Amino acid sequence: MNQTQVADRERIAERLLRSTATRSYDPELDINWSAPPVPGKAFFPEHRSTLYGTALYEQLSPEQRRELGKHEAASVAGTGIWLEFVLLRLLAKLAYQGDPASRHVQYALAEMAEECRHSTMFARLIEWMGTPAYRPSRLVQRLGKVLPGIAYGPVMWGAILIGEELTDRYQREMVNDESIQPLTRMVNRIHIMEEARHIGFARAELARSAARLTRAELPYHRALLGRIAFIVARNLVTPEVYSSVGLDPRQAHRVALANPAYQETIRYGGEKIVAFLTENGLVGVPGMFWWRRSFLLP
Ligand SMILES: [Fe+2]
Ligand SMILES: [Fe+2]
Repeated sequence: MNQTQVADRERIAERLLRSTATRSYDPELDINWSAPPVPGKAFFPEHRSTLYGTALYEQLSPEQRRELGKHEAASVAGTGIWLEFVLLRLLAKLAYQGDPASRHVQYALAEMAEECRHSTMFARLIEWMGTPAYRPSRLVQRLGKVLPGIAYGPVMWGAILIGEELTDRYQREMVNDESIQPLTRMVNRIHIMEEARHIGFARAELARSAARLTRAELPYHRALLGRIAFIVARNLVTPEVYSSVGLDPRQAHRVALANPAYQETIRYGGEKIVAFLTENGLVGVPGMFWWRRSFLLP
């Protein structure tokens, strides 16, 4: 990196650190966890349910739909926690390798502190909803374990952004939706506000590191990113949630994957980040096999 790039990076980190100091939340204090759910309000938008619009969904009563939505919300929160754990390790790697006296590393530490609070907040949300704490499959957990060892530069920032931007998109939709539980909306409001900084930081880092990639490195980043995009998009909701309303998980999962409304929900979630990654040359061969199967592409 040349001096201008370093100065630019420090300037962004300085601005984000100032914003963090003035605008951040403590979910332990800022959310009233003792407030019970409001009767009749949903935990997840109906039209974002994985089964929305299918014959299977039509068979469910309004109560069952709300129950399924609650479990789907819990699964997204559980995957969110898993993503944040992976992210914490990626940021810890950056801090470990960098200069602690730089604003850049200091901002990474500030972001880690926020992610710790977010994970606790999502865990409490799951507790509050009274559902099981769903987690991604064993295979996905193993992949999350190796990622910090093999990801650097564009693929590392890309993985962070896919995780953050997909969930951000759904949360932004929910925050203004009066039919959703007020506590859920507050959780989303806090997350959106703090993630805006994280996304800004990661996008600037991705653009900078992608511009420095050599031709020989590019296929590695594209291939790995396609694989990660597929994993994240396909694991937001685990098939186990369907048991909550008496559906067979395997059958309901098959119906969900073939459901055009669900495929559109995934595409909607990825719309902005896919455009950004494409602009930076990171969506392409040899990663296309997984991108196509992820339902993220327009
Ligand atoms: Fe977060
Ligand atoms: Fe974040």
